[in-house]
Amino acid sequence: MMNSPAYAFTNPQAEPSLSAYGAKRAGVMSQDGFDAAFAEISSWPGYAPTPLVSLPKLAQQLGVAEVLYKDERGRFGLGSFKALGGAYAVANVLRLKVQQTHGLAQVSSKELLSGAFNDLISASTVTCATDGNHGRSVAWGARLFGCKCVIYVHETVSQGRRDAIAHYGAEVREVKGNYDDAVRFAAATAAALGWTVVSDTSYPGYRDIPLDVMHGYGVMASEIVTQMSSTQPPTHVFAQAGVGALASAVCANFWLQWGVQRPLFIVTEPTQADCVYQSLQAGQRTVVEGSLNTVMAGLACGEVSELAWEILHGGTNVAVAIDDAYALEAMQILAQPQKGDPPIVAGETGGVGLAALLAARDHANIRAQLKLDAHSRVLLLGSEGDTDPVIYRQVVGKTASEVLA
Ligand SMILES: Cc1ncc(COP(=O)(O)O)c(C=O)c1O
Repeated sequence: MMNSPAYAFTNPQAEPSLSAYGAKRAGVMSQDGFDAAFAEISSWPGYAPTPLVSLPKLAQQLGVAEVLYKDERGRFGLGSFKALGGAYAVANVLRLKVQQTHGLAQVSSKELLSGAFNDLISASTVTCATDGNHGRSVAWGARLFGCKCVIYVHETVSQGRRDAIAHYGAEVREVKGNYDDAVRFAAATAAALGWTVVSDTSYPGYRDIPLDVMHGYGVMASEIVTQMSSTQPPTHVFAQAGVGALASAVCANFWLQWGVQRPLFIVTEPTQADCVYQSLQAGQRTVVEGSLNTVMAGLACGEVSELAWEILHGGTNVAVAIDDAYALEAMQILAQPQKGDPPIVAGETGGVGLAALLAARDHANIRAQLKLDAHSRVLLLGSEGDTDPVIYRQVVGKTASEVLA
């Protein structure tokens, strides 16, 4: 059997493991920011930590000591970790508006939910561009807190993902071109109409809101640190990257909490949208042109977020780019595990950490660069479940409930 394409790059700019997180990075994401996000998000109705699942049989098969999978499928009923970021940023946009309008020092999201500020909130509109999951989170946050919401999608966003956004009462509009075109269109429309862009990607002059999104994502990492408090931290963490907001939030959070014990940090992307990989190779943020066509819908981004880059350029040890075939194989393996491992429902972008391990199984040079061996304890970020149930069934041959039955 021929191996599917995959390649890896060891980052020469990676900070040594003894390096402190430091003031410069703390000016981007900070422990205070992560703590504030945790306090707010854990107060929302329906909050519960997502499971951290051990897959011993898979570990054995892949020649490592342990595989841990943080399963974000159940996050606030939205199917992905994205529920943490966009909705938290919407809450903060509205909190700030209420504070400024009423001259209050602090308003919590609990107070927003009390209904006391509904007149002001219902007159506000939030917007963003999305490949699916971020828009769903913004739409859900808008509905939870009671403001209006318009979401822009590019041409290849599946109908299932559009429907899931509309389900939360947002208006979904299509933009010609790719994700980055939709980002530009949303920004221009918001500027013209006085709406607030709640984007997960930053650009010059636009940092506060994406920073909230990233601090929100940090909840996932904070939970992992608590869930692993009685064991050693993992040796490796695989974070999939689109614009890099998730990867940088997890990297920053583990660096702050685990310090010198932080794991080797590996960023995984599709070969068709490898903007972190290309940027690390060039030593600076580099735009990837083209259709960015990949089944890993959440990762179809051609440009690393400015803020994410400030963490990832020194925080990433190895970048791996993989062919779609590995992402699909990962979904199937997680759905039909060997006896002894629980079945897991991972969407096209959810199983990408495992996809990188599969690439390392097939490519000796990747395994060597990742320093994977029988002692490795690997953490995978299961960032989504079957966020598009139709595509999930096509790939796996079963529905999520059949897989879990
Ligand atoms: C399920 C899933 N995982 C990972 C990512 C990547 O996140 P980021 O764009 O912050 O790198 C996305 C982005 O949409 C996603 O939807």
